[in-house]
Amino acid sequence: MKIRIKDILKLEPKSQTVTAYGWIRTKRESKTFCFLEINDGSTIKNLQIILDSSAAGYKDLILKLTTGTSIKTSGKVVVSPGKEQNIELHADTIHIYGGADPDEYPLQKKRHSFEFLREIAHLRPRTNTIGAVTRVRNKMSYAIHKFFQERNFLYINTPIITASDCEGAGEMFQVTTLPLDNMPADKKPDYTNDFFGKKAFLTVSGQLEGEIYASALGDIYTFGPTFRAEHSNTKRHLSEFWMIEPEIAFCDINGNMDIAEEFIKYIFVYILENCKDDIDFFNKWIDKDIIKTLNHVIENDFVRITYTEAIKKLEESREPFEFPVKWGIDLQSEHEKFLTEKIYKKPLIVTDYPKEIKSFYMKLNDDNKTVRAMDILVPRLGEIIGGSERENDYNILKNRIIELGLNPDDYWWYLDLRRFGSVPHAGFGLGFERLIQFVTGMKNIRDVIPFPRSFKNAEF
Ligand code: 4AD
Ligand code: MG
Repeated sequence: MKIRIKDILKLEPKSQTVTAYGWIRTKRESKTFCFLEINDGSTIKNLQIILDSSAAGYKDLILKLTTGTSIKTSGKVVVSPGKEQNIELHADTIHIYGGADPDEYPLQKKRHSFEFLREIAHLRPRTNTIGAVTRVRNKMSYAIHKFFQERNFLYINTPIITASDCEGAGEMFQVTTLPLDNMPADKKPDYTNDFFGKKAFLTVSGQLEGEIYASALGDIYTFGPTFRAEHSNTKRHLSEFWMIEPEIAFCDINGNMDIAEEFIKYIFVYILENCKDDIDFFNKWIDKDIIKTLNHVIENDFVRITYTEAIKKLEESREPFEFPVKWGIDLQSEHEKFLTEKIYKKPLIVTDYPKEIKSFYMKLNDDNKTVRAMDILVPRLGEIIGGSERENDYNILKNRIIELGLNPDDYWWYLDLRRFGSVPHAGFGLGFERLIQFVTGMKNIRDVIPFPRSFKNAEF
C-alpha cells in the first residue's frame, strides 16, 4: 500500500527510502537546492522535499514543478534543520504526472475568499481549510456510527423518495416523470399516470419510517440525505443536507434529552482527540475560541428550560428584537442566539413548545396547549437539534392530524403503530452540517459540505 504523508511525517529519520505522492503547494529555490512543499490530503501538514541542483535535468525539471502539479518522489527521510517540521525528504527522483500552468491554475499561494472557492468547488478540496473540513467531517461520520453502535442502536436506511410529508411543512421537492415540457396547459396533472401512481417527493426526514423500526426492533438511528425546498438563503440552511435521526423505544422526553446531550459531548471529545492538527488549524485561522468553546460544552450541563420560561426571559431582557416576542411565536434565530449566547452562555434545551408551531406527531401535554418538543440551541448557530416525545395515543394523534388539515388516510400506517403494541418513544434530528459548522467554526454551511445545494444553485 502507498504510504501517506501523515504517516511519513511520523517516521524516525534514518535515511530510509520512501516514495511520496502529492500535489505541490509551494516551491522555493536557492543556489544549491529546490525546496518543495507537497500535500496529499491525508493531513493539514505538508512534506518538505529537497532536490539538489546536481540532480540530472535539474534546470528543466524545476521549471515544471509549479504549484498544483502532481508528482511522485522517492528519496531519503532525514532530520530537517527547519523549525516547521521534524523530517524532510531528500529526493533522488521526481516524476511529474500532471502539470498546472501557473498562468491558469486558480489556487496560487495566497488566501482566497470562501465565496470565490465555492465557484471552484472542483478545486477547493485542495486548500487547507476545505481539506481540514473534509477530514473532520469524515471522522465525525465515524464517531456518530460509533456512538450509536456502542449503545446497540440499529442503523436503518429510510427511503429517499416518499409520499408523506413528515414535518407537514410542505417544503418538499416533487419527484415526477410526467412530461413537464409537454403538458396540456388547461388541465391539472393526473398523478395516477405518474411514475409511482401518486404524488411523490424527496424526503424531509426519515423519522416516520424510523418509528416503524423502533416499534419493532427497539432503538434505531438513520443517517442520510434530507431535502427541503425552503427559500431561506442563510448561512445555516441547505436544500440538501444530512441528518442523523435516532428513535428511542420505551423512552420519554427526558431520556431523549439525556441521549442528545451525551451524543453531542461524545462527538466533540472524539474530534478533539482524533483531529488535533485540523482543530488547531481552525483555532488559529477560523475561530480563535473554538477549542475553548468545545471544551466548555463538554464540561458543562446543558441548561433545560421550557418554552414558556424562554419567552419570559426574552421579554424581561427588553432587547429590541426584529421579531417581537410574545407567547405563541416561533423562536427566530435572533431569539435562539440571544438565549444561548447572552442569557445562558451555554447550550440550551428548550421544551414544551405551543402545539401550533410544532409538527403533528409530537406528544400533547396535559395542558392541551403545549407539546413535548425539545430543541437544542447552541451559540452562533441557534437550533442544532429538533426532537420530541412522540404521540403514542391513537385517538389523540388522529385528532391532531385532522386538526392540522392533513388527511389521516395518508398516515394510515403511522396510525397503525398506535393501534398495535404502541410504545412510548422519542427521538431527535441533528443537522450534520450544523454540527460540523459548530466544531470547525466555519461561518457558512456551504463550506462544510462538498457540493452545496441551495436556492438557484446546483453547480457541480
Ligand atoms: O427540526 P427539524 O425539522 O426536525 C425534524 O426533521 C424531525 N423529524 C427530527 C426528529 O425528531 N427525528 O430538523 C432537525 C435538524 C434541525 O435542528 C437542523 O439542525 C437541521 O435538522 N436542519 C437543517 N440543516 C441544514 N439546512 C436546513 N435547511 C435544515 N433544516 C433543518
Ligand atoms: Mg426544528
